[in-house]
Amino acid sequence: MISLFLWVIYPYLALCIMVVGLLFRYNYGQLHWGAPSTELLEKKTLRVGSLLFHWGIIFAFIGHVMGILIPRSVYDYFGVTEALYHFNAILFGGIVGVITWVGLLVLIFRKIYFKRVRKKAGLSDFATLVSLLIIVTLGTSMTIGYNVMVEPYEYRNTIGPWFRGILTFRPNPLLMVGVPLLFQIHVILSFALFALIPFTKLVHFWTLPARYPARAPLQYRSRVNYRKE
Ligand code: HEM
Repeated sequence: MISLFLWVIYPYLALCIMVVGLLFRYNYGQLHWGAPSTELLEKKTLRVGSLLFHWGIIFAFIGHVMGILIPRSVYDYFGVTEALYHFNAILFGGIVGVITWVGLLVLIFRKIYFKRVRKKAGLSDFATLVSLLIIVTLGTSMTIGYNVMVEPYEYRNTIGPWFRGILTFRPNPLLMVGVPLLFQIHVILSFALFALIPFTKLVHFWTLPARYPARAPLQYRSRVNYRKE
C-alpha cells in the first residue's frame, strides 16, 4: 500500500496539482506570471549566483534526460558500457551538481544578506530556494557521494523505467521498492517541488525560455552614466 501511494498515487497527485495550478494561474494570474527581476536592488551577487545556478540546472536537466528518459538499451546498442556511462555521469553530473549547488547558496545568501532584496522577498521565494537547495544537495550527494563511496547505482534499471512508466500511464511501483533511500527521497521531494511550481516564481520555467533570447533587452543604467548622455 505504501509503495502504491508513494510511487503511483503521490506522483500523479503532484503532477495534477502542477498542471491544474499552472492552467489556473495562466488564466487568472497572468500579470504575475514570471520571475520579476530584483536586479535593480542588487546586481553583482545576483549575476554570480544566477549564472552559476541557471547554467548548472540546464546541464543537470540534460543529464536527467540522458539518464532517466533515454532507455539503457539505447546506450547498450551504441556500445556504451556500464563503466563508461557511470564514469561520465559521475564526472559531468558531479561538476554541474556542484555548480548548481554553489549558485543556490549564493542566491540564498543574497536574499538574506541584502536588506532591500530581503524585504522584497516573499515566503514563496524562500520556500523555492530552500526546496531547490535540499533537492540539489541530495542529487549531488547521490552523484558524487553514493556512486563513489558505496557503488555506482544503476538507476537506468529502476528509476528510469519507473519514471517513463509514470509519463506513459503504465506505472510500476515495484521498480522503486529496492532503490536506495537517498535516491527515493530525491524523487519524492522533486514531485513535491513540481506541485509547488504554480505557486512560485518557478512558473517562468514553462514560458520564459521561448521568447527570452529574442526580446528587447531591458536597460538598467547607473545614474552617473545617465547624466553623461
Ligand atoms: C522525479 C524527477 C527526478 C528524478 C527521477 C531524478 C533522478 C536523479 C538521479 C537518478 C540522479 C543521480 C544521477 C547519477 O548518479 O548519475 C539525480 C541527480 C541530480 N538531480 Fe535529480 N531527479 C529528479 C528531479 C530533480 C529536480 C527537480 C532537480 C533540481 C531542481 C534535480 C537535481 C539533481 C541534481 C543537481 C543532481 C546531481 C547532478 C546530476 O547528476 O545530474 N533532480 N537525479
